[in-house]
Amino acid sequence: MKLLVTGGAGFIGSAFVRLVIAETAWHVVNLDKLTYAGNLENLASIASNDGYRFVHGDICDAALVDSVVADERPDVIVHFAAESHVDRSILSPEPVVQTNFRGTFTLLEAARKHAIGRFVHVSTDEVYGSLARPLEATEEFPLNPSSPYSASKAGSDLLARSYFVTYRLPVVITRASNNYGPCQFPEKLIPLMIANAFEDRSLPVYGDGMQVRDWLYVDDHCHGILAVLEKGRDGEIYNIGGNRSLPNLEVVHQVLALTGKPESLIQYVTDRPGHDRRYALSSEKLMRETSWRPVMDFETGLARTIEWYRANGAWVAHVRSGEYRTYYETNYTNR
Ligand code: NAD
Ligand code: TYD
Repeated sequence: MKLLVTGGAGFIGSAFVRLVIAETAWHVVNLDKLTYAGNLENLASIASNDGYRFVHGDICDAALVDSVVADERPDVIVHFAAESHVDRSILSPEPVVQTNFRGTFTLLEAARKHAIGRFVHVSTDEVYGSLARPLEATEEFPLNPSSPYSASKAGSDLLARSYFVTYRLPVVITRASNNYGPCQFPEKLIPLMIANAFEDRSLPVYGDGMQVRDWLYVDDHCHGILAVLEKGRDGEIYNIGGNRSLPNLEVVHQVLALTGKPESLIQYVTDRPGHDRRYALSSEKLMRETSWRPVMDFETGLARTIEWYRANGAWVAHVRSGEYRTYYETNYTNR
């Protein structure tokens, strides 16, 4: 089997590509634009594998996408590529709408034209919006996105589903909760806090820090996507959660404890506009229909993640140079 993976140089996409190469005999073609978030260092361990090929390109480029699909004839498209960060989507929504909505459209069109056997659209629990306790979103919950990021993902979910309903394109949609693990760009909560703690810089907590997220180790997410790819039913949506809900402040306390840094590094800063208070997800459907379960407990996963960042200082220094500094100043200075 051959997979066309989009966004395979990013955090989750690269974990998925590494896992597929390690655990299956499938071939992988990785189409990635290498934005600030794309990093081929994430794939160094498998780059010379015979079953792997990299194509540098934009999913919004219809001619390129069509020629890649026509030349490679993949059996499956697994679509990760996205502008994935809420704060950046607030500062600059245009590329978010372009890649997340227009790029998904471009891929769906190529999949339809070339009669692809399965289209896995990777989405997020953020499309359900903020949920009051004790609600947990099932796949039937209404979409209620708050940020340009989550709205663009909700739009692309609906577009992907329309290709199943209208054209019978075999689309399956996954909606995962907040991921963490190695190779995550240090703009997201956990790697940002780890990288700042290492350097004794302040840890910027938005608002009161009591917003709740459900934390999913990246390899558990990737195994969930594999389960959906192999056993999911056409036209269906599958939630993939970590079953570990924590307030942000508790996550930050654990990072400080594991890095041996003082709580005085915590700095409360102005809240994110439109900040969703609580995400919560039920993964019952995926667990019922497949043997998938999230297996990593949060404490072990966080310790492992911190060790990865400690051992990969050159990776951190590289991704935090250049453009990252401008982003950091824009988002955090005088906040
Ligand atoms: P990421 O930002 O780490 O990586 C995104 C990748 O997509 C990068 O390699 C980037 O170069 C590539 N890309 C961006 N625009 C592109 C374009 N126009 N053409 C081709 N490639 C492009 O993102 P991530 O955290 O790995 O997220 C991957 C997917 O999973 C996204 O669709 C995201 O919405 C979804 N998701 C993420 C999380 C999370 O916690 N990070 C949770 C649930 C779902
Ligand atoms: P983030 O990792 O950006 O993921 P998302 O917004 O997609 O859930 O943020 C996770 C939570 O952490 C969210 O409630 C916002 C909060 N947060 C901070 O308090 N400070 C920060 O510097 C960042 C990046 C996030």
